[in-house]
Amino acid sequence: MSNASDLIKEPASLLIFGASGDLTARKLMPALFQLSRDGFLPQSCPIIGVARRTKTDDEFRAEMKQAVNEFSRTDHITDDEWATFSARLYYIETDITQQADYENLKQHVREIEVEADIKPNRVVYMATAPKLFLPAIENMSAEGMIPGRDDDHWLRIVFEKPFGTDLKSAQELTAHLSRLLTEDQIYRIDHYLGKETVQNILLFRCGNAIFEPLLNRNHVDHIQITVAEDQGMERGRGALYDASGAMRDVLQNHVLQLLCLIAMEPPALFRANDIRDEKLKVLQALKPAGTEIDEWAFRGQYVAGTHQGESTLPYREEDRVGDQSETETYVSMKVNVDNWRWAGVPFYLRTGKRLPQRVTEIAVQFKHPPLNLFTTVECDGDMCQMVEAQPNTLIFRIQPKESISLRVGTKRPGMQYQIHPVMMDFEYEDSFTFELPEAYERLLLDVLRGDSTLFTRSDELEAAWQFVTPVLEHWQNDGSGPLPYAGGSWGPDKAMELMTNDGREWRVPSPPK
Ligand code: BG6
Repeated sequence: MSNASDLIKEPASLLIFGASGDLTARKLMPALFQLSRDGFLPQSCPIIGVARRTKTDDEFRAEMKQAVNEFSRTDHITDDEWATFSARLYYIETDITQQADYENLKQHVREIEVEADIKPNRVVYMATAPKLFLPAIENMSAEGMIPGRDDDHWLRIVFEKPFGTDLKSAQELTAHLSRLLTEDQIYRIDHYLGKETVQNILLFRCGNAIFEPLLNRNHVDHIQITVAEDQGMERGRGALYDASGAMRDVLQNHVLQLLCLIAMEPPALFRANDIRDEKLKVLQALKPAGTEIDEWAFRGQYVAGTHQGESTLPYREEDRVGDQSETETYVSMKVNVDNWRWAGVPFYLRTGKRLPQRVTEIAVQFKHPPLNLFTTVECDGDMCQMVEAQPNTLIFRIQPKESISLRVGTKRPGMQYQIHPVMMDFEYEDSFTFELPEAYERLLLDVLRGDSTLFTRSDELEAAWQFVTPVLEHWQNDGSGPLPYAGGSWGPDKAMELMTNDGREWRVPSPPK
């Protein structure tokens, strides 16, 4: 439930461009419904769907009701709750590529705002194909819908990813947009930053005295970041995915943001720009961990396999994927963060589709104790076997079953001095009774409150593209194609060598209990 400090100070209307799309139905509308239900969204904030198809407000409301029922985290939505929420939903038919449609859009939005008795403060959410970003903003500008600094009302535009497809295109998009918008009007979303457990990385580091002094090259052996998904190309996702691949879809944004949060220096103040300055420094310090790209970056594509006993299709036979597609569905890489804190500590990153389970985690593996005085055993009941000494590992489990765990060695009770590795676990569901909010709830509320802390700044975005673009170019030109891996496996064998060649191993994340 909301506190006074959480609330939106100035009501605004929220326009969703691309309101007929999947994102609106699956993520945006359920999040807005939840915000409204939990008292975060003033009743005077209209939500206006904008898209090309012809439909009435009531038809739009009916579609959104179905979507919210299907995708909301609230199990049972009462008629009253729906009536309260849907009273603020509107639909305006607009071809956002056609300048002529904007006069009607502007006028109609204003009528809704007058009716709600609010100023023309607006959030425009670009839930559209990226190629429509620029035409939409140009058309809004031509119609006088972009307020200047001296106006008494504001506009904030949220851009869904991908923001560009490489360094050059991201820079061009930023340059074009900056002719029409100021940076503080632009909110580039990376929904990972809205996840409760992702925000907790920084709070855990800076809100406890005992861990932060250990997070550096003196104590840490290496860090592994995994964003694994067991899903393939269900629900026609192949069409979009085939044009991007794992690097652009997840590594360039979600994985690098996780890396920033675990590697950055604590900011002097917990303010948007201080945090983003520190993240930027991490991205600028990113260096390949090898001379040749093929030594430190691997890509794979899944072939037929099995998942939970069911056979799975090869990527190339998935719905809306080219049968000769060379798109990577898996990426792993070893990178360095060349600064005083992290010099010499490798960061191993991996992400992929059709892996054995859906799991996102950061594992910080500490160095072994300087001297091994004891034998280490792992026991199942009374049956124990000697194993290699296990280093301490701090694991941030971002999803599912959000938790933070620390592996420590403890004496196995008995007549001998034997170490047994055990886990100290904090699980959200044991300590907090309330459900974790969805990422989009937090992010939509932040845009309405004008807080850009959890959004990506243009220099951060460009630094991330700068790092991955040479790899993408190399893959595009080298002609070798992605390495095959069986659906339901942890990726191509060759990619495992990234770790085994260093005498290390990828963690096998424990499946949810
Ligand atoms: C999106 C990617 O950004 O993140 C998808 O485009 C991916 O391909 C999704 O499935 C994963 O998000 P989450 O929140 O389910 O981990």
